[in-house]
Amino acid sequence: MPLNFDSVRRQMAGLDRKVPLLTGETRRYVNLDNAATTPPFLEVLDAIREFAGWYGSVHRGAGFKSQISTDLYEECHEEIGRFVGADPDYHTVICCGNATQAINSVSRRLRLRPGEIVLTSVMEHHSNLLPWRMTGPVEYADVRDDDGALDLEDLGEKLDRHKGKVRLVAITGASNVTGAMPPPARIARMAHEAGAAFLVDGAQLVPHHPVVMGPADDPERIDFLAFSAHKMYAPFGGGALIGPREFFNNASPPSTVGGGNASLVTRNDVVWADMPDKEEPGTPNVLGALSLVKAMKILERMGMEEVAARERLLTTRLLARLTEIPDLRVHGDTALGGACERVGVVTISSDKIHHALLSAVLSHEWGIGVRDGCFCAHLYVARLLGLSDGEVSAFRTDVESGDESRLPGLVRISLGAYNSPDEIDYVCDALEDVLSNGPRARYYVDRATGQYFPEGYSYKLRKYFSLHS
Ligand SMILES: Cc1ncc(COP(=O)(O)O)c(C=O)c1O
Repeated sequence: MPLNFDSVRRQMAGLDRKVPLLTGETRRYVNLDNAATTPPFLEVLDAIREFAGWYGSVHRGAGFKSQISTDLYEECHEEIGRFVGADPDYHTVICCGNATQAINSVSRRLRLRPGEIVLTSVMEHHSNLLPWRMTGPVEYADVRDDDGALDLEDLGEKLDRHKGKVRLVAITGASNVTGAMPPPARIARMAHEAGAAFLVDGAQLVPHHPVVMGPADDPERIDFLAFSAHKMYAPFGGGALIGPREFFNNASPPSTVGGGNASLVTRNDVVWADMPDKEEPGTPNVLGALSLVKAMKILERMGMEEVAARERLLTTRLLARLTEIPDLRVHGDTALGGACERVGVVTISSDKIHHALLSAVLSHEWGIGVRDGCFCAHLYVARLLGLSDGEVSAFRTDVESGDESRLPGLVRISLGAYNSPDEIDYVCDALEDVLSNGPRARYYVDRATGQYFPEGYSYKLRKYFSLHS
């Protein structure tokens, strides 16, 4: 039976937590920073506690708890693959730490041949950009001027220009800056027709939208998918990489080597383990895998279509209000009416107030958690702000001398299905107030971090949580 969303809200950890405001009052915290990380599901915490009594070393241990842990860990691989519609004959599921680790594993194994390139885009998070630059030459598909969406014509042109030389097309499933969702089926077809494999950075997609990787012979299949558990209500250091078994089974060594991924070692020789062990060096994080699968099961109970629909409603409400606020600019697509090609990530800016000051005011005066800056997507934010590479490079001396206060940036509001319409209205009321009346206090900037803090005001963070209480 599908869950009703009030009961989902009740089972989120920490939604009732109150935080201090400048006025001395406390207010229930409104978390609108879900693209960074999400609060845990209480049922995930319960599962961890419940399993703790059976926790033991995964693989090789003969003890009963080891056997239970190994069996669970192996079952988790199957469940993860099933959740994203992987093809068990084609794909292998690798449990890892997060999307960053997952993408780095692929980049280290890729070994481009002379003349080959990776085609990615300017809208990527650095985790789907910098690893490719370590591999070899990279080409970037551009975004459109009007709505910041991936420019599919440009992607096609670049595939043509580098015909036969594009080894991998690596594109985000959903942007962590504008929420834009490049169409995976269309890009997969374009990539496969050009003889390239297709990787989707699913960090912002998998928690918010149904994903089907598809079978080996489907031209619209996703070959590689990477995502993080902490962005899907399961913050225990889990993540997943799903990719073609053949790619990882080939003769080249694993991306990281050590215990767990060698079956036989002599002074001069190594026999690598089969997949997935070959790409899972070190002691496996069975709690990370368990929590990820538990969260997937809860999301499945809610229905991923329903999660996406609920988030679409909230996003439409947010965009409708934001686009009415004077002196506020919404970056990316603002089309209303339940557009489905985006997730609930919205970035804003205003000429009236610095981005870092705006997010500080929302925190200290309203108890709202959002994020500001460039969100590890410097190329995209620069593109949205109309800044050239040269203009961005002008900040190099600042950064090298430890001053981040003048860096450009935006403010990001990002939603989860558990956020309420009231929370959307509350952040919009807050923005209207701040942009009309300004901050209620004086703030100073910490040059090293670029963060703003209210003058003459301090609080003791350890009063709220301490290792020693
Ligand atoms: C689109 C996207 N890709 C990759 C990542 C990296 O995720 P993680 O830090 O969990 O490795 C993020 C994190 O914000 C992201 O938003």
